[in-house]
Amino acid sequence: MSEPIVIRCRDNGPFVIKTPVQVVDHDGKPFTIPAGKETIALCRCGASKNKPFCDGAHNGCGFQAGEKAPV
Ligand code: FES
Repeated sequence: MSEPIVIRCRDNGPFVIKTPVQVVDHDGKPFTIPAGKETIALCRCGASKNKPFCDGAHNGCGFQAGEKAPV
């Protein structure tokens, strides 16, 4: 059995996922992930101009999210 996919919630930032991974739109069409990338970052603040990917806009929009998993 393969290892589960890990999605890391960055404090006040995106969801980070190790590659290989495929991100598809609502029709199932895949987004291009540049070759050689070891991780991708998915926007969760809503401010990225490159959704579904993070473009760093979370740094300037006041987005706050620092969830911690229950111990
Ligand atoms: S989380 Fe980075 S731009 Fe939205």
